[in-house]
Amino acid sequence: MSRDRWNNRLVFVLAAVGSAAGLGNAWCFPYVCATNGGGAFLIPYFVALITAGIPVLILEFVIGHKFQGGAPTSLANFGKAGEILGWFATFISFVIVTYYSVIMAWVFDYLWYSFSIAWEGDSGGFFFGSILKLTDGPWELGGFSIPVLIGLVLTWISIYLTIKDGVHTVGKVVKWTVGLPVLLLFILAVSGMTLEGAMDGINYYLTPDFSKLTDFKVWTAAFGQIFFSLSVGFGVMIAYSSYLDKKSDITNNAFMTALANSGVSFLAGFAIFSTLGYMAASTGSTVAEVSTAGVGLAFVVYPEAISLLPFGAIGQTIFALGFFIALLTLGIDSAFSLVEGTSTAISDKFDFNRKKTTVGVILIGFVVSLVYATKGGLYWLDIVDRYINNFGILVVGFIEILVIARLMKVNNVREYINEVSDIKLGKWYTILLGIASPVILGIVLVMTAYTEIMDLVNKTNYYASYPTSALILGGLIMLLVTLLASVIFVFFKTKNAKENSEEA
Ligand code: PFF
Repeated sequence: MSRDRWNNRLVFVLAAVGSAAGLGNAWCFPYVCATNGGGAFLIPYFVALITAGIPVLILEFVIGHKFQGGAPTSLANFGKAGEILGWFATFISFVIVTYYSVIMAWVFDYLWYSFSIAWEGDSGGFFFGSILKLTDGPWELGGFSIPVLIGLVLTWISIYLTIKDGVHTVGKVVKWTVGLPVLLLFILAVSGMTLEGAMDGINYYLTPDFSKLTDFKVWTAAFGQIFFSLSVGFGVMIAYSSYLDKKSDITNNAFMTALANSGVSFLAGFAIFSTLGYMAASTGSTVAEVSTAGVGLAFVVYPEAISLLPFGAIGQTIFALGFFIALLTLGIDSAFSLVEGTSTAISDKFDFNRKKTTVGVILIGFVVSLVYATKGGLYWLDIVDRYINNFGILVVGFIEILVIARLMKVNNVREYINEVSDIKLGKWYTILLGIASPVILGIVLVMTAYTEIMDLVNKTNYYASYPTSALILGGLIMLLVTLLASVIFVFFKTKNAKENSEEA
């Protein structure tokens, strides 16, 4: 059967941008930037983008384009170890979508509650109490939270409807899910900037603090942010580019994806911090006091800021809907790209029917995600996210750049790219991919592992306050099982391989 193809180049770029621009851009980037040196954070951010993000993105596009298969099948061209790497990346994406979908579930819930600004007065109590019904610790699951469960079903149905017919339906959906959030964030940013105190928010977001650059954590934060937000190191970009026509451009597509992705991150920062500036001014606090990390920012602090806006009930609802529709449309194409990466990997290796594989992955994904829809689910989400993100992805990116780029002969990679692309890469690309990137990424990886272990040992990291047993299960065992599954999958014989060995 001939391979599915993107309808045209624009659709491919939109799908790649859709995968990249997601929740990571909307709430992680602004906060990470603000607390890691503000404007000065842009230095490590761009160093990470240029030395790791773009080279790995181009490399993943090359791998998918050249070998025309999901990550494991493509990387199997470099032997069993290559295929293990491909499965590892794939299973990491699968693990991520099982909790990413739960965050999307909260977004669905908040869309509903935006009509009444139901969190008004106690946004923290509303999120942790009424929505999550959070228990006292990870070992107390406490049954399902019904609102989360309903949101979760809606999320998986949306994922199914989008990808049931492969890249063709994806192509129709990404036109909306990429353009709309950008428009909404732009409107939120512009209206946010008119508010009193907005500039204090923006100052907090972007005022450079160069002294932070000597702290290694700032650098690991930048690399982590680039990998996650650009969706590289997950095999998803390999799967997506495997549906490209053999004659498609690579460099230009990669640059467009990377630029658009960073653009969405900056824009989200303006939307969020202008409003938080207003909130700080109207409650007599500082922006630093009101802003928090991750989940709390999007589901507690920002909603609270909305409930304080001087626009009346209808205006607040419009603002809230704008924000949550932006999150929904940003997140959904990232979520289904993670499923696509997994089902492409499985159907390519085992020669399974694509549609049935997708349904299978969605069903299993839904069942696993139920863990996080329990009342203790947030704890598990937090732990799994921390370890898969901190180590899993950097490891894949590092090996891709160190080993795969070498096996493909760095110079040949460049020639391959230049043959099909409008923008020609010079010798600098060989030096970057061959030397600079692996060295820098290697250092970052070692330092990330070192700081994380030291933090846990010295208890200077709040993760240390989780029961050790939960950290071992959600961190170490989860990573080991992912790795073990990757090794096992390599030894499953595919139909083609069986036929070949029978012939021989
Ligand atoms: N890049 C997405 C975000 O920033 O939210 C998350 C993501 C999607 C990561 C797809 C990895 C991936 F393969």
